[in-house]
Amino acid sequence: MWQQLIQWLRPSEESLTQRMARVWPVDLHNHLVPGVDDGVKTLEQAMECLRQYATWGIRRVISTPHISEDYHPNTHTQLLKAAEAVQQAIIDEGLPLTFTVAAEYLLDDHFIKLLRANELLSFGANRYVLIETGWAAPPYQLEENLFTMQSKGYVPVLAHPERYRYYHDDIDKLLALQDKGCLFQMNLLSLTEYYGQTVQQMAQRLLKEKSIHFIGSDIHRSSDLKHLPDAFASNWYTQLLAQPLKMDTL
Ligand SMILES: [Fe+2]
Repeated sequence: MWQQLIQWLRPSEESLTQRMARVWPVDLHNHLVPGVDDGVKTLEQAMECLRQYATWGIRRVISTPHISEDYHPNTHTQLLKAAEAVQQAIIDEGLPLTFTVAAEYLLDDHFIKLLRANELLSFGANRYVLIETGWAAPPYQLEENLFTMQSKGYVPVLAHPERYRYYHDDIDKLLALQDKGCLFQMNLLSLTEYYGQTVQQMAQRLLKEKSIHFIGSDIHRSSDLKHLPDAFASNWYTQLLAQPLKMDTL
């Protein structure tokens, strides 16, 4: 009887969907603009993901196609145009979410040209710009780029810091980027074994350091969806709640 009384007095545990909606109301990193990068290829594939997002309580989607000189030389005009089809399909289907487009910039020469011209696609009132580097080595003049971005009024957000191999043995060097004004966006899938155990361990260390400002899916295809709820298991969820998240500034 006492056990029943205690159970009755205890607030009911949040459902998985409630957890997701609480810490992840906006997805600011994904590849759901069809046919512009290595993400979804068709409008229907994008809609499959967005329907699932709506059931999870996500109300805003900021899509971030790759922009790089060598692999994905997307122009802003092309991306804005390609996103229109998704926006229209969302309206036609009555999904309760908005869809806007920014970009995930590789820090290459093309990026520097856009930066100097003050022509980066940003998101949020604080003009956040999502950036990535190559996997194996840090880009030339990373710190200078971070400084220039801020001098132009942008706030750099490093995509998936847990995935860069050249920081795996030197977390202090990675964390030092925050002293240079760089915010961190962690991939939810990094909390699972999706990218392997080394990335998972790095994600865990970054959570322990309370160093994560944004979480995002970085999904490229609908088959990625089924792994996302795993990132909200109790052990991860407690740690996500303890982060200095800035999701409410989007
Ligand atoms: Fe990405």
